[in-house]
Amino acid sequence: MDSQLIDRFNRKITYVRMSVTDRCDFRCVYCMSEKMTFLPRAQLLTLEELELVGRAFVELGVTKIRLTGGEPLIRKNILQLFQTVGKLKTLKELVLTTNGSQLVKMALPLKDAGVKRINISLDSLKPVRFQKMTRIGKLEKVLQGIDAAIKAGFQRIKINAVILKNRNHDEVTDLVQFAVAQGIDISFIEEMPLGEIGERNRAEAFYSSDQIRCDLRQTFNLIPTIETTAGPSKYYRIAHTDTRVGFISPHSHNFCDTCNRVRVTTDGLMLLCLGQEYSVDLRRVIRAHPGDITHLKETIVKAMAIKPKNHNFELNGQPQILRYMNITGG
Ligand code: GTP
Ligand code: 5AD
Ligand code: SF4
Repeated sequence: MDSQLIDRFNRKITYVRMSVTDRCDFRCVYCMSEKMTFLPRAQLLTLEELELVGRAFVELGVTKIRLTGGEPLIRKNILQLFQTVGKLKTLKELVLTTNGSQLVKMALPLKDAGVKRINISLDSLKPVRFQKMTRIGKLEKVLQGIDAAIKAGFQRIKINAVILKNRNHDEVTDLVQFAVAQGIDISFIEEMPLGEIGERNRAEAFYSSDQIRCDLRQTFNLIPTIETTAGPSKYYRIAHTDTRVGFISPHSHNFCDTCNRVRVTTDGLMLLCLGQEYSVDLRRVIRAHPGDITHLKETIVKAMAIKPKNHNFELNGQPQILRYMNITGG
C-alpha cells in the first residue's frame, strides 16, 4: 500500500517515531538536565492508545515504526505494545532505540515480538567517562546488553554515539573499532539544541561529522555507499568488514529534503518536525472519540498540510525548542 501521507513538498511519510515514555534510567548530558520533572502519568498515552496510533499510521501506509523514549524498555508492560504493533500486517519494520540498560532480559522477547533492528546509544567505552556523560549510567550493563542483542540475532544492530568536543571526540576511532569487532553498525550524531540542559555551552561542544570522518580516515578506509536505513544517516562502509559507519549531521548536512517521518511525543502530540513546534494533539482527538480510528486517521492526514520544509537549529544562545529530547523521542 502506498502512503496516503504526503506533505506540501511532496514528501511521503512512511516512518513514525513514537516516544513511549519520557522517563529514563540515565540522564545524558545532551538530553536532560540533572534534575528533571517528568510528565504526570495521566498525560501519557496509554499502551492501548499507543497501539491505536500505531495502527492508524500503518493503515495510512506507514511501513516503519520506531519505539523510543526516554528509555522505552523501562515502561511497565511495554512488551505488550511491541507484540501488538509487531503483528500489524503491512508494517515492514518495527524498530527500537534504547540505551541498552534492559537488553539482557529484554533482547529475546523483543526479537520474538518481531523487532527487526535495534539502535543502542553508546558514547564512550571508558567506564568513568560513560558515567559522566550519562550522569548515572553503568557501562558494563550496556555492554552486556549489546552482547545479548547480538546473541538474540536481530537483523542489524547499530550504535548511536553523540560526539561532543573535549568529552568524547577522542574516542571515535575506538568506537568504530568496537563496532567492527562486534560486526555491528555505528552512527555518529551531531548534538541538537533541544531543551535547556544547564551548565554546558553547546556551540563550544560542537564536533562536526566532517571532522569525525577526517579523524577516522587516519585508521580506516571509508567507502561511501548509497545504502540507507530510511533514517537521516549517511553511510560509509569500512573496507573488508560488515560495519557501516553513519553520520547524522543536522548542522553540517541538512537532510530535510528527504524527510519521510513524523513523531508522536510521550503525551500524544504528533510533531511534524523535530526542530520546529508544528504539532497536532492526537491525545485530545483519541480521548474525545475513544476507539474511533477513522477520526484519528483523518486528523493525521490533515496534519500533513502543516509539515514544515526544514528544521532550523542554532547552536548559539538559548535553545529555540524548549521541549526535551526524551519527550520528543530523538
Ligand atoms: P535508522 O532507522 O537506523 O536509520 O535510525 P534513525 O537514525 O532514524 O533513528 P535513531 O533513533 O537511531 O536516531 C538517531 C539520531 O537521529 C537521533 O539523535 C535523532 O534525534 C536523529 N534524527 C532522527 N530523525 C531526525 C530528523 O528528522 N531530524 C533531525 N534533526 N534529527 C533526526
Ligand atoms: N542531540 C543529538 N542526539 C541526541 N540524542 C539525545 N539527545 C540528543 C541531542 N540533544 C540521541 C541519543 C539517542 C538518540 C535517540 O538521540 O543518544 O541515541
Ligand atoms: Fe535517556 Fe536516551 Fe536521554 Fe540518555 S539520551 S537520558 S539514555 S533518553
